[in-house]
Amino acid sequence: MTSQQERTSPQVYPPPPDLAAHAVAQAELYERAGADRLAFWAEQARSLLTWETEPTQTLDWSGAPFARWFADGRLNVAVNCVDRHVEAGHGDRVAIHWEGEPGDRRTITYADLAREVKKAANALLSLGVQQGDRVALYLPMVPEAVVAMLACARIGAPHSVVFGGFSADALRSRVDDAQAVVVVTADGGYRRGAPSPLKANVDEALADRARGGGSVRKVLVVRRTGQDVAWHDERDVWWHDVVDAASEEHEAPALEAEHPLFVLYTSGTTGRPKGILHTSGGYLTQAAYTHRTVFDVRPESDVYWCAADVGWVTGHSYIVYGPLANGVTQVMYEGTPDTPTRERWWEVVERYGVTLLYTAPTTVRTFMKWGADLLEGHDLSSLRLLGSVGEPINPEAWTWYRTHVGSGRTPVVDTWWQTETGGIMISPLPGVTTTKPGSAQRALPGICTAVLDDTGVPVADGGTGYLVVTEPWPGMLRGIWGDADRYVETYWSRFPGRYFAGDGARLDEDGDVWLLGRVDDVMNVSGHRLSTAEIESALVSHPRVAEAAVVGASDDTTGQAVCAFVILRADDGSPPVGEEDTEALVAALRAHVGREIGPIAKPRQVLVVAELPKTRSGKIMRRLLRDVAEGRETGDVTTLADSSVMGSIRAGLGGSAADG
Ligand code: WTA
Repeated sequence: MTSQQERTSPQVYPPPPDLAAHAVAQAELYERAGADRLAFWAEQARSLLTWETEPTQTLDWSGAPFARWFADGRLNVAVNCVDRHVEAGHGDRVAIHWEGEPGDRRTITYADLAREVKKAANALLSLGVQQGDRVALYLPMVPEAVVAMLACARIGAPHSVVFGGFSADALRSRVDDAQAVVVVTADGGYRRGAPSPLKANVDEALADRARGGGSVRKVLVVRRTGQDVAWHDERDVWWHDVVDAASEEHEAPALEAEHPLFVLYTSGTTGRPKGILHTSGGYLTQAAYTHRTVFDVRPESDVYWCAADVGWVTGHSYIVYGPLANGVTQVMYEGTPDTPTRERWWEVVERYGVTLLYTAPTTVRTFMKWGADLLEGHDLSSLRLLGSVGEPINPEAWTWYRTHVGSGRTPVVDTWWQTETGGIMISPLPGVTTTKPGSAQRALPGICTAVLDDTGVPVADGGTGYLVVTEPWPGMLRGIWGDADRYVETYWSRFPGRYFAGDGARLDEDGDVWLLGRVDDVMNVSGHRLSTAEIESALVSHPRVAEAAVVGASDDTTGQAVCAFVILRADDGSPPVGEEDTEALVAALRAHVGREIGPIAKPRQVLVVAELPKTRSGKIMRRLLRDVAEGRETGDVTTLADSSVMGSIRAGLGGSAADG
């Protein structure tokens, strides 16, 4: 898809001359980093961060693939994100313009943030949290989410943020894996005009100690919606009781650069999510550096808005750590873009004079569908740069974004990275790169990537293969929580000595990178990573399902959509499934997946079939199922154990597979 579209849209966009002349990142950055990569990163670490003890070491790769960066340096991440800006005289600068979905607003300066973070740090300590303990956060997009993350960072208790859209079961398994001692949550949050419950999910996750959650001693609850919540006196405490009452004085410890900062769970190719581990000094260096250079940040004048959720890595690196380390003013919005109207975003841009906007292609495609006339009545002239993240952006969406949101004048930066990479890896530099709609283009200065063929040999320009990172980088994951072997196996075994990201890519004639999507069993739905195996195991945990296969089928708005094929159990005593109750069963299975994982994982389609296509060794051939889900002729079936299976699947679906 991508390559064809690229050929029909030859338009390229040189940087606007005024931006190019004064850009934070100039072309010489590539040369400096190319000449001495480690010296370059050491310089970034020193110039962008404030260290209690400046590092003399840069990279220790002796334990490869476990990296240590700036290992003899000491710093406090929260001090870097908050206190030092106040000390530099910027206490009155707005850190966060927050807007709740119902329309309530809060303005939080850096001085306010410093005070709240210190109080929250004291509150966590009073709840018994110690350095090194894990704290789970399950919160809506409220300022307390940022405060809680920074409070954890301040006392050296790694946080594990669990996206508020995940279910009680998903929360429990993450709490258990990290052995979190405290959960910070809210009564609920607002989404699409209605309060959704969070505390109730925490209660369910921790209800039956035999099922898990046994590590949790306290639950700290922010009052957001005011909805009724059950209360466990010995376990639950209100944020407004303990944080508001806590002291505003807190001396931040200087922590080792390699002190764990957070664990963030992400979907892999098996049913069990991986806890991606990030540490302090290297991660913060890359978050601050990439935020500053890719978005051409001017902390004294920019108003930056990253529309991600703090529950995903984009929220970690580009709402919390990068922007706050750089001392920028940002907008944080709680809800959905169509509440109360489809013009909500453009009202927000206008109200705060947003200059830099960072969002996902799926949102851009949604706005395209809603129509450009919704933007017309709004003054968007403050915008000067647009960013894209999370999935490949098709040239049409890229061009629409630039034309209608960017009024045909702003650069668009398509940024490729992952939970594992910690920060942006491949992206244009807005004052340097002549952009091409649909291409992420080039590794940033200091980052080394390649595209390899099956045998591990770099492909020539024009070739297609696997995207790898060839040299360690400061923000790289330090492992998978509690599972060192899985880290080595997952990322370093396909091409020894190279980090394999799981993405396919093509190099064009100029050597620019075009991302082609995942090459493994990971799906990307609306920029969210979902694993086929995880949804399959949710489906087979339903009493009526014997077997399930899940594929990601392409979808115009969400990029990919979840399509499930299920075989029902013959032995559960239920009557055979007739026409009428298929519908009810499908609804029940979708709801079941929503309960097991979260609403984002609900399949778009569930197709009840009699058999699944398998190879002789019993591996499900998802490629063929994808053909069915996308309404295509099936490809080569010669490796199937039983070549008649595809015929019977199609016959059973009566040709209505694509709209199930
Ligand atoms: C995909 C999100 C194409 C990719 C930051 C990657 C992208 C996965 C882009 C990571 C992009 C992210 N172009 N694909 N600009 N950015 N991806 O961990 O498949 O939620 O492997 O991190 O998203 O998703 P994750």
